[in-house]
Amino acid sequence: MKENVSKVISEVVGGMEREQIKELLETPPDSSMGDMALPCFAFAKVMHKNPASIALEIKEKLEDYKDDLCIDRIDAVGGYCNLFFDRAEYVKKVLTSLQQDNHGVMKTGEGKTVCIDYSSPNIAKNFHVGHLRTTVIGNSLYKIYDKLGYKVVRINHLGDWGTQFGKLIVAYKKWSSKEAVEEKGIQELLDIYVKFNSEKEAYPELMDEARGWFAKMEAGDKEALSIWKWFKKISMIEFERVYKMLGIDFDSYTGESFYREKVPALSKLLTEKGLLVESQGANVIDLSEYDMPPCMITKKDGSSIYHSRDIAAVLYRKEKYDFDKCLYVTGLEQSLHFKQVFKAIELMGYDYYKNLIHVPYGLVSLEGEKLSTRTGNIIYAEDILNEAINRAKELINEKNPTLEDKDNVSKKVGIGAVIFHDLFNQRIKNIDFSWDDVLSFEGTTGPYVQYTYARAGSILRKYGKKITDSNIEYKALTDDSTYELIKAISGYEKAIEAAATRYEPSVMARFLISLCTTFNKFYQECKILKEENENVKTARLYLVGLAKDIIVEGCDLLGIQCPEEM
Ligand code: ARG
Repeated sequence: MKENVSKVISEVVGGMEREQIKELLETPPDSSMGDMALPCFAFAKVMHKNPASIALEIKEKLEDYKDDLCIDRIDAVGGYCNLFFDRAEYVKKVLTSLQQDNHGVMKTGEGKTVCIDYSSPNIAKNFHVGHLRTTVIGNSLYKIYDKLGYKVVRINHLGDWGTQFGKLIVAYKKWSSKEAVEEKGIQELLDIYVKFNSEKEAYPELMDEARGWFAKMEAGDKEALSIWKWFKKISMIEFERVYKMLGIDFDSYTGESFYREKVPALSKLLTEKGLLVESQGANVIDLSEYDMPPCMITKKDGSSIYHSRDIAAVLYRKEKYDFDKCLYVTGLEQSLHFKQVFKAIELMGYDYYKNLIHVPYGLVSLEGEKLSTRTGNIIYAEDILNEAINRAKELINEKNPTLEDKDNVSKKVGIGAVIFHDLFNQRIKNIDFSWDDVLSFEGTTGPYVQYTYARAGSILRKYGKKITDSNIEYKALTDDSTYELIKAISGYEKAIEAAATRYEPSVMARFLISLCTTFNKFYQECKILKEENENVKTARLYLVGLAKDIIVEGCDLLGIQCPEEM
């Protein structure tokens, strides 16, 4: 609509480009002020008249084009030109577009590949609430890009290499046993890691031992590697449990340990390119010219480091997947790290540094305090999910005790609540974790959206027959609340595109809330099954079905499943 309207306006009023006019066109907050509005203040300078008389002039000129533009009425109010669409025509346009394949969402990404690096937890550490964020944001971005036709490679860049494993081996040998690790899993690894860190103050020689074991790992020592592999296996069992609950898969679990072997070749390449300099025994790329600390490639003892393993990973991924874009979903605190890594790629002369994108998210705190495994100020992802499922079960027992398959429904609702809570706010916002917020099922929450889906389903089940799109009378869908619902649905494709370009699943979450709010208003204000006029009834039922389809698809784009009943 904006395209067409701006084209006509630019033809009838001189002095301003079509694109500029398109930018000016607004959607009024309330349909009583029109479906589209043109504020005329910006024309005042070009036309040397006051905005009110310009609005009047534009209105008069547009009157002749009303039919072409599917506009029913034009009001000039103050400095605004308010356009009211021909509702039946507009409804027809929206519904026809949604009836197309993929609900009319253009597959703009066809032929392009996006790598998404997300979740990527550190092994031997619990999967906590912070990892939950990268996991659900990354998963949603995968679904959204996939919907747009991109080939998506889901990468779990496991933190499975580094000096901490040297510490862990020392701690294991001193304070733990095979039985204890087997019995308590990650928790045991965490406990002994914490113990190491508190003991090392008093016994500094522990650090030398730890460095020694890590050096052994780097050198390929059998014993060191087999303990490390075992720790990794134990960790993966826990991570996979969480992924299974969330319904998440990855295409690659190629983590840091894989890339350390590629660092010697990287060092050689950097030397050839004249980028590697020695600094206090370590090898670094000097980034002082760009106001950044040096990017370390190898440490004093020659071992690889987080930065160099990431640079090696960029080169490997480019070679293997030939990505058009590679996204990194991590906390905001890693911004400098990625700036350094991307700068290194640029300095190496690879133009695709432009397609490496850090997608940061805000910090999670607990009662205003930083999360820390060391102080015990921590919440584990699995506990949150389980608690939410229990809470959902309690509510279902209270409100719908005869519901079938309560266990499955509680899972979908509880997990849906946690995911939605995470994705609803802009990702960059810090979250102070609160059980009450996460477990709230009212207002702008996942269960509210799921409930709307179930309500739509129940209407259709009661009706029992199928409705096809060929017998819809568009005029029957033009009363105020139905029309608002159509307008809300019409934003589907835009919401997907905006969520993709801004790497922002919250756009989708907010779209769903506005869709469900308008749906529930429509449900309250319009008769559906009880409607006497058959044409109106069929059209409304058709709309219920469409809204239902879009809700479930939108939820899927967030990684949320909808139970048929709840
Ligand atoms: N393992 C890291 C952490 O838990 C995140 C890794 C992100 N991905 C990457 N390619 N650096 O903080």
